Amino acid sequence: MAHRLAGKVTLVTGAAQGIGKACAELFAKEGAFVFVTDINDDLGKRAALEIGPQAQYLHLDVQNENDWDVAIGQVIKQKKQLDILVNNAGITGFQEGFGLQDPENASLDSWRKVHAVNSDGVFLGCQKAIQHMKQRKGSIVNISSRSGMVGIPGAAAYAASKAAVRNHTKSVALYCCEKGYDIRCNSIHPAAILTPMWEPMLGSGAEREERLTQIAKDIPMRKLGTPEDVAYAALFLASDEAKYITGIELTVDGGILAGSSASPKREEE
Ligand SMILES: NC(=O)c1ccc[n+]([C@@H]2O[C@H](COP(=O)([O-])OP(=O)(O)OC[C@H]3O[C@@H](n4cnc5c(N)ncnc54)[C@H](O)[C@@H]3O)[C@@H](O)[C@H]2O)c1
Repeated sequence: MAHRLAGKVTLVTGAAQGIGKACAELFAKEGAFVFVTDINDDLGKRAALEIGPQAQYLHLDVQNENDWDVAIGQVIKQKKQLDILVNNAGITGFQEGFGLQDPENASLDSWRKVHAVNSDGVFLGCQKAIQHMKQRKGSIVNISSRSGMVGIPGAAAYAASKAAVRNHTKSVALYCCEKGYDIRCNSIHPAAILTPMWEPMLGSGAEREERLTQIAKDIPMRKLGTPEDVAYAALFLASDEAKYITGIELTVDGGILAGSSASPKREEE
C-alpha cells in the first residue's frame, strides 16, 4: 500500500514523548519527513534518533514567537515547504507545580501560564503555518481535549485553554476558506490516553494498578487509550484522505463523550 503521507513535510510540537512522539513516529512510517520539536531537548533528540533519517529535532517552545520563526525558518530552508502542522504541546499545570487549578483557588499567574502554552501556542502555530502553507496547501491538526468540551472543576485553566483550541480551530478553518487558501484545520479531542502526562496522578506499584483500574471503570470501553490511537486520528486528518474535512472536532475517548457522566461528587460524599 502506498504511504499515506508520502513526500509531506511535517512539524509536530511537544513530540519528545506521549501523543506527539506517537504522531511523529507514525507520520514518518507513512512517508513524511518529520520535524520533532519540543522544549525537552534531550528527550526530543532521542525521539528523532529513534525514528531515523525521516526525522530531525528542533527546539521549539510554543509560547515563544521567536522560537516559531526560527523553527519554521529552518524547515523552509531545508525542505522548502511545510505541509502538515500538529499543534500537540500542552500542559495541565500539575506536573509544572502550578498549585491548585480550581476556579476558586487557582492563581492568576498559573492561569496565564497554562493558557500561554495551550492557547497562545496554538494561535502562534496556526498563524505561522498559514503564512507558509498558503502558497501551496496544508493541513493543521490541533490537539485539544475532552476537557475542551466539558467543564473540569479541578483543572479550570486547562479546560478553558482547550476550549479555546477547539474554537480557534474553527476560526482558522473558516478564515482559510474565506481567503481561498487550500488549508484545512481540525481538532482532536482525546481523553484518558495513557502517557507520561498521567504519571503524577497515578503513583507507583499496586496503587498505580488500582488507580488505572478505577479510571478504566469510568470509560465506556473500559480501557485507557494509547498514544497511537490519537496518532491514527491525526494521520487521517493530516492526510489527503480528509481533503473535504475542515473545522471538525474528532473525539478519541473510548466513548466518554458519547453520553453524560454522573454529577460530580460532593466533598462530603
Ligand atoms: N494524555 C491524555 O489523556 C490527553 C487527553 C486529552 C488531551 N491531551 C493533550 O494531548 C497533548 C499531548 O499530551 P500528552 O499526554 O502526550 O502529554 P505529555 O506530557 O506526555 O507530553 C507533552 C510534551 O509537550 C512538551 N511541552 C511542554 N511544554 C511545552 C512548550 N511550552 N513548548 C513545546 N513543548 C512543550 C513536553 O516536554 C512533552 O514532551 C497535550 O496537548 C494534551 O493536553 C492528552
